[in-house]
Amino acid sequence: MRSYSVGSAKPNDIHHVLLSEEQISAKLDEMAAAIDADYEGKELLLIGVLKGAVMVMADLSRKLKHTRTSMDWMAVSSYGSGTKSSGVVRILKDLDADLTGRHVLIVEDIIDSGLTLSWLISNLKSRGVESLEVAAMLRKPEAAKVEVDVKYIGFDIPNEFVVGYGLDYAEQYRTLPYVGTLAPHVYEN
Ligand code: IMP
Ligand code: MG
Repeated sequence: MRSYSVGSAKPNDIHHVLLSEEQISAKLDEMAAAIDADYEGKELLLIGVLKGAVMVMADLSRKLKHTRTSMDWMAVSSYGSGTKSSGVVRILKDLDADLTGRHVLIVEDIIDSGLTLSWLISNLKSRGVESLEVAAMLRKPEAAKVEVDVKYIGFDIPNEFVVGYGLDYAEQYRTLPYVGTLAPHVYEN
């Protein structure tokens, strides 16, 4: 495994590594195989949710071998206090693509309360998709406030704040190649 010092992360900022780069890559192989099996011969539109999903999107999409894909991005902001999602969502950047008649796969970094994703699913479904499914790298089952139907899931993790592999704390740590928990001193600053 690579050292903890990546980009702006100081060596002691990460409390422990929850998922290594190797574990993530192996899981993405499995997810890609399942997606390939389901969409073989079809044209699939991958929709990434900025910014956290960039790493999952980049790695998962490149592991798809039998599915023709195109890619689009959305940026949304959840109204709420601090880090708690309210489920009221504002679109910061909408899709370029028309979803009418398309097979769509939402690609997400993490499902926490599920409120943002649940809003996104109903929003995209109303645009005339042929099919809509979700692939998410991480899910915190204990944090769920709404049930979201996720077809392709990477890992269920404990209800702790995690960073790395696209996930940030105050816009930092996204470029860590692994997923880890933050050391308490980072919050206390
Ligand atoms: P939800 O609406 O509560 O499911 O919020 C999901 C979004 O909150 C994710 O797409 C992340 O951007 C962010 N988020 C939730 N949990 C974490 C975490 O542990 N670390 C970093 N970001 C998180
Ligand atoms: Mg996200």
